[in-house]
Amino acid sequence: MFLHPFLVCLVALAFVAVVFWGHRKRSKIEPGSALKQAAEQLEEGVLVIGVDGAPQLMSGPARRLLGWRDGEGLPNPLRRLLDSPTGSLTLKPVVLPGANDQVVEASVLPARSGRRIIILRDIGETMALDATRRDFVANTSHELRTPIAAISGLLDLLEGAEGDYAADLLARAQRRAAALGQMVEDLLSLARAESPDWALRPEAINVSALFEQLNDRFSPLADKNPKTALGFESTVDELEADPSALETVLANLIDNALTHTEEGSVQVSTSLAEDGTLSFWVKDTGSGISSEIAPRIYERFFRGDCCSFSQHSLSQGDKSESRGASTGTGLGLSIVNHLVSRMRGRIGFNSTEGEGTTFQVELPPQGGKTL
Ligand SMILES: Nc1ncnc2c1ncn2[C@@H]1O[C@H](COP(=O)(O)OP(=O)(O)OP(=O)(O)O)[C@@H](O)[C@H]1O
Ligand SMILES: [Mg+2]
Repeated sequence: MFLHPFLVCLVALAFVAVVFWGHRKRSKIEPGSALKQAAEQLEEGVLVIGVDGAPQLMSGPARRLLGWRDGEGLPNPLRRLLDSPTGSLTLKPVVLPGANDQVVEASVLPARSGRRIIILRDIGETMALDATRRDFVANTSHELRTPIAAISGLLDLLEGAEGDYAADLLARAQRRAAALGQMVEDLLSLARAESPDWALRPEAINVSALFEQLNDRFSPLADKNPKTALGFESTVDELEADPSALETVLANLIDNALTHTEEGSVQVSTSLAEDGTLSFWVKDTGSGISSEIAPRIYERFFRGDCCSFSQHSLSQGDKSESRGASTGTGLGLSIVNHLVSRMRGRIGFNSTEGEGTTFQVELPPQGGKTL
């Protein structure tokens, strides 16, 4: 997987080198030559540098990547690359006029008659992906380390403890272990939702049955707080979607709504637009989402300041039971976001601090009928 970009670069170099072979005898490269045409077909930028160090050919993509205009000399990093023995160099960053910053990787290959071929590749996206991967591993390790340290501390204390104190320590260690298990489950769900190999399995879903299932699952959690009512109302009979994905989406939204609603209600409902677009609504009268954290709530591991009223009060039910701690893992909405886009849907929310939040999940119409 990591080799892929290098292989692409190598193939591009080989391709250009083969075409270039036919031109080795000519000192000038004709504007309509096969080499020029071949270079224009490549996504990578191609430059052919003559013995005098001046470019004899610069493909369109190369010009765009370097922001090069006629009459300009080669950028300094490229000159340095040509002065150095054959190899590759990462130019960081090459700024294109009017475009965003780009990170361009340049590789050089010697050619006949003292010429050199330079291949340029935009590696900005690859680098951003690498950075995301690194962050994810770092965050995951950190998040896993915390409960593991807590469990090991509790087990140390348990050694030699007796009676109620020992029972309390044991219960706390068990809750931490369950929270750890939940986190691993969440990570697996996220990895599945992100994986292109994981296919959704849409089937007919009876919405009332789904709501009953969710009600059974969440009413014990809601009942822990007598000041909050949980309700479901559907105007749609049936839809076609992956049942497990849809349930995960709604369960996470309901879990969040209950977690952040001290008093009032959490209402789950549906609506059907004329074009067949089906929306699920999860509306709560809770703490709301502040404008500072609103742009970040779908990020992996992001947790806002938890709860005007503590999750401790709900800590016996559902996901919160296994967490046992006062916060979740911050993966819920990230999973939801991925699943909704895999279902070709959209998610959005409206929130007013102190008044509550409404999440809307919109699923596209399917062949004229409800998705
Ligand atoms: N209905 C809501 N009301 C208020 N804040 C919310 C609501 N839904 C989400 N949030 C905020 O968004 C943050 C991210 O939510 P997310 O579901 O991703 O993580 P989490 O609930 O903290 O943990 P978990 O991984 O267990 O779901 C929450 O920590 C919370 O601050
Ligand atoms: Mg959550």
